[in-house]
Amino acid sequence: MPEVTSSAKVRPLDELDIAGIVRIDERITGSYKPDLWEQRVMYYLRRDPLASQVAEVDGKVVGFMLADVRAGEFGLEEPGGWLERFGIDPDFRGRDLGRALFDAITAHFRSRGVTSISTLVDQNDKSLTGFLGSIGFRPSALQALEIPL
Ligand SMILES: CC(C)(COP(=O)(O)OP(=O)(O)OC[C@H]1O[C@@H](n2cnc3c(N)ncnc32)[C@H](O)[C@@H]1OP(=O)(O)O)[C@@H](O)C(=O)NCCC(=O)NCCS
Repeated sequence: MPEVTSSAKVRPLDELDIAGIVRIDERITGSYKPDLWEQRVMYYLRRDPLASQVAEVDGKVVGFMLADVRAGEFGLEEPGGWLERFGIDPDFRGRDLGRALFDAITAHFRSRGVTSISTLVDQNDKSLTGFLGSIGFRPSALQALEIPL
């Protein structure tokens, strides 16, 4: 496994990171969504201020991962870790930063007594399924269902 670049640092998310996350998302998706990210970041900070993490290189935020612990949802009694949105600036991929963010989140989840981590992914997105498979995710018995309206 390659080492995280020496100037990289992983630390808990802060509300001052919103602008950096907006910039990373804009680089990934091509659209500028400051209101959406302010709402998402504040939501995750309120729920669990130490679960979500960012990666900095030379003091600049180049990656983020939003996560929290949920219990009692969908009839699941045990507290479970949930991984939501994440992104690494395209210029900083392939340096193990995604894995480092996930390792920091996993350490936090363990400290909260969590014994499994879940996420939802579009199976057609091979980049996301490839990354999630590499960091250890496997298909779950829980199935996502929907009805178009
Ligand atoms: C997926 C993503 C997070 C990977 O970040 P990264 O920092 O480059 O990943 P890492 O270097 O930590 O790689 C960790 C492992 O995942 C694998 N991996 C990473 N990207 C992969 C891909 N596109 N396909 C297959 N495997 C991949 C790596 O090979 C590595 O595996 P290994 O340790 O067994 O060699 C990054 O490409 C990304 O942000 N993609 C876009 C996410 C997105 O669309 N977000 C929604 C908008 S915010």
